[in-house]
Amino acid sequence: MMLWNDGYLADFPYPHQVHPELSPTWLAAVLTALGQRAPEPGAGFSYCELGCGQGLNSLLLAAANPAGRFLAVDFNARHIDHGQRLALAAGLDNLVFRQAGFVELADEEGGEAFDFIALHGVFSWVSPASRAAILRFVERRLKPGGVLYLAYMSHPGLSAFVSAQRFIWQAAQRAEGDPVQRLRIALDALQRWQVAGAGYFIEHPDVARRLASGRGQDLAFLAHELLCEHWAPLHSAEVIESLAAVGCTFVGSATPLENIDELAVPGHCLPLLAELDDVAQRESARDMACNQSLRRDLYVRTPRALSADEHRQALLDGCWAGMPDAPDQGALRFDTRIGPVEGEATLFSPLLQALAEGPQRFTELASRPALASQLSGLNPALQMLAWAGHAHPMLTGAVAAERCQGLNRLLAEGALLGEGYGHLAAPSLGAPVAASPLEMACARVLLEHPQLRGSLLRETALALLRRHGWQVEDAAGHWQRFEARTLPAWLQLGVVAGDARPPENQR
Ligand SMILES: C[S@@+](CC[C@H](N)C(=O)[O-])C[C@H]1O[C@@H](n2cnc3c(N)ncnc32)[C@H](O)[C@@H]1O
Repeated sequence: MMLWNDGYLADFPYPHQVHPELSPTWLAAVLTALGQRAPEPGAGFSYCELGCGQGLNSLLLAAANPAGRFLAVDFNARHIDHGQRLALAAGLDNLVFRQAGFVELADEEGGEAFDFIALHGVFSWVSPASRAAILRFVERRLKPGGVLYLAYMSHPGLSAFVSAQRFIWQAAQRAEGDPVQRLRIALDALQRWQVAGAGYFIEHPDVARRLASGRGQDLAFLAHELLCEHWAPLHSAEVIESLAAVGCTFVGSATPLENIDELAVPGHCLPLLAELDDVAQRESARDMACNQSLRRDLYVRTPRALSADEHRQALLDGCWAGMPDAPDQGALRFDTRIGPVEGEATLFSPLLQALAEGPQRFTELASRPALASQLSGLNPALQMLAWAGHAHPMLTGAVAAERCQGLNRLLAEGALLGEGYGHLAAPSLGAPVAASPLEMACARVLLEHPQLRGSLLRETALALLRRHGWQVEDAAGHWQRFEARTLPAWLQLGVVAGDARPPENQR
């Protein structure tokens, strides 16, 4: 068995990771907030995910976006096999999985052009030849007006960690066993230098902090993170320039908060930032101001900025849903990278109360008496709620509830069997929602028995968990939250089938 392919772990499954920023509705809403024209997720679009891992993101997005056609690419045969099996079982005829390396893919003649190309956790982990191939692919296959989502490790947040990663990589190569065994040996070897008081650890206390938090993570995930020959944080200015060379313009971050300087950059650095006009230089300076380690960049080929009227109209046309874990009301505390930021109760309380009633058009929100007087704060507040996982843009257009529920059933069954799935498809969002093991068990029960509620639902779900060997701790608080918030939100969003009206209004 080959351990590495082009310097990347070859035949070892990457644990399932789901990223909200990959969904077309999210990307379109962030671009709209930035005043950029975006592809319309409710209309037909094509989407390519490069380095898709086991395919969860593409599976959830394909199920929830009937207007989209998806291609998911990875060179790991086990990843592609997993994705293909689930896509087939869920009847996702708008998703193709393809086993291919980036160089092979980029050098093919012809091929479809895409409205979206997305890569998460790939660009700064692959060889220079693969990075160049990705750029060629983007140059040839991203449509005019198309969006590139590119997440990568950056300087200076990871500059000091380069030496630790090199040590781990070299020690792992000399070690024996599977990737996790090799990683353990390498981490132990590095820790001995830390314990001995090596100057590197004294000069860079952040490295020890990162290693300690890594120890608490899934080691299969960490092996993919660290056992890479070409692991390299990148300078954002250089990435921005290399994408400009293939016709793509940097327009902002897919992390909404990063687009609001006052919330993303320490206040004392803002005057210096204001002196910079050049986008690449500005982004590098922002990275320095925030000690950035992971960027989620958005690029557009031939972007078109919306006029002031178009921008206003595009915001008004937006529709937003509250997410199950959103607080009901009150001031909110956002833990941003510049420290805690208070979201004022006068703005956030009425906004959260409105979203708790069900999905709302921006125009409806704007016409509420408590919000009408603070219109300029509404869009930033929604962006902050989205960033915190409390709100999500809705899909406008046809939804595929049955198809999502078919996939959700498979995911809920898999979760019970210990496959590590923790997300379900939400058709009304065109996006995934996170779910705990108890919630996955409830989903499994509800997808079979849509009318079950209350203690019967709870006991059936708990029995199912126990039967599959799950340790069920006191679930009372969790259950209350599920019944009061998560289940009504699931019903509204189509995650499971059933009547979303409160029981007293149902006949
Ligand atoms: C860290 S994982 C990220 C997976 C997924 N994008 C996510 O964020 O959950 C990187 C993925 O890129 C794939 N990959 C690495 N080098 C590749 C190459 N040269 N060609 C195709 N796929 C590659 C790996 O197999 C792996 O699935």
